[in-house]
Amino acid sequence: MGRPKVTVVGAGNVGGTVAQRLAEKNCYDIVLVDIVEGVPQGKALDLTQAGPVCGYSSRIVGTNGYEETVGSSLAVITSGIPRRPGMSRDELLATNAKIVQSVVREVASRSPDAILVMVTNPLDVMVHVARRVSGFPKGRVLGMAGVLDAARLRAFIAQELGVAGTDVQAMVLGGHGDTMVPLLRYTTVAGRPVTEQLPKERWDALIQRTRDGGAEIVNLLKAGSAYYAPSASVVEMVEAILKDQKRILPCAVLCEGEYGLHNVVVGVPVKLGRNGAEAIVEYELTAEERAALHASAAAVRDLCTVVDRLMA
Ligand code: NAI
Ligand code: 2OP
Repeated sequence: MGRPKVTVVGAGNVGGTVAQRLAEKNCYDIVLVDIVEGVPQGKALDLTQAGPVCGYSSRIVGTNGYEETVGSSLAVITSGIPRRPGMSRDELLATNAKIVQSVVREVASRSPDAILVMVTNPLDVMVHVARRVSGFPKGRVLGMAGVLDAARLRAFIAQELGVAGTDVQAMVLGGHGDTMVPLLRYTTVAGRPVTEQLPKERWDALIQRTRDGGAEIVNLLKAGSAYYAPSASVVEMVEAILKDQKRILPCAVLCEGEYGLHNVVVGVPVKLGRNGAEAIVEYELTAEERAALHASAAAVRDLCTVVDRLMA
C-alpha cells in the first residue's frame, strides 16, 4: 500500500501552502490542481526540488485536469476567489458556488470514497454545496474554519498573557463569519480557565479581534487574504483524519439534531478520524451561547437558500 493520495484543488495562496505543508510531512502523495495553465505544474516542480533539502520524498504532481486525482483518500478544495478589502466572505457566494460545484463534481466522480475538506468561502455554504453535488455522506464533507478562528483567539490570548500559544486551548463554534461563537468558558491556559486570568473588557476585545481576524489581514495585504494560518489549520485536520488521530476540533459539518440544529451546516466540535467526521461532540451551552449558535446557523441557512436558488 502506497502513501495516501491527497488532492489539493486551487494552487493559489492557501492551496500552494497546503501542498507545501503536506509535502513536508513526508507521508502523502499530492496532486495540485488549478485552472491556470502552468501554475500547479510550476509549484509542484518547485516543491519537488525542495524535497532533497527539506528531507522529504513526497510525490507531487501539478495538473490542470483531474485524471491524476483518481483514488484520492482526501481532497482539499481551495479553488475560488478570495476577499478584497471591504468585501465580506458572503459577497464571494455566486462566483465561488459555481467554481466549487464544478470542481467537486470532477473530484467526487474520480474518488468516490474520498473525504472532502472545504476551504473556499463562504465556507459553511460551500460545505452545503459540496454535499449536494457529491452526494457523499455527511461525515465525509467537512469545512475548515473553526480551527483557524480558534488559532487566532489562541494567538491573541497567548500574546496578552505572555504564554505559549500551544498551551492555550480554545473552541469557536458557529459559521465562519461575523456571527462566529467563541466559547470563552471552554478556553483554558494549561487547563486553567482564561476567564480567571483576564478582565471581561480584555476578553471582549480579543473576541472582537478574532471575529475581525480575516478582515484585519485582508486590509493589511490589500490583495488576497490569509494563508499561513489557514493552511496550517487545514493540515491539522488532514493529519487528524488520515492518521486516525481522533482529535476533537471545530469543523463545519451538517448538523441533524445536535445542539438542537436541524439540516444546517455549521461549525461544531467534531471527532476526526479515518472516516472523516466520526461524531459531533455536544458541549453543554448556556442559553446565551446556544442562542448565539442558533443565530449563526440561521445566517448560514439564509445563504444556503440563496445558493440553492442559484444552483436550481
Ligand atoms: P487564491 O486566489 O490565491 O487561490 C485560488 C486559486 O483557485 C487560484 O489559483 C485560481 O486560479 C484557482 N481556481 C479558480 N477557479 C478554479 C477552478 N474552476 N478550478 C481550479 N482552480 C480554480 O486564493 P486563496 O487565498 O488561496 O483563497 C482560496 C479560497 O479560500 C478563497 O475563497 C478564500 O476566501 C478561502 N479561504 C477560506 C478560509 C477558511 O477559513 N475557510 C481561510 C482562507 C481562505
Ligand atoms: C480568513 O478568515 C479569508 O476566511 C478567510 O482569513
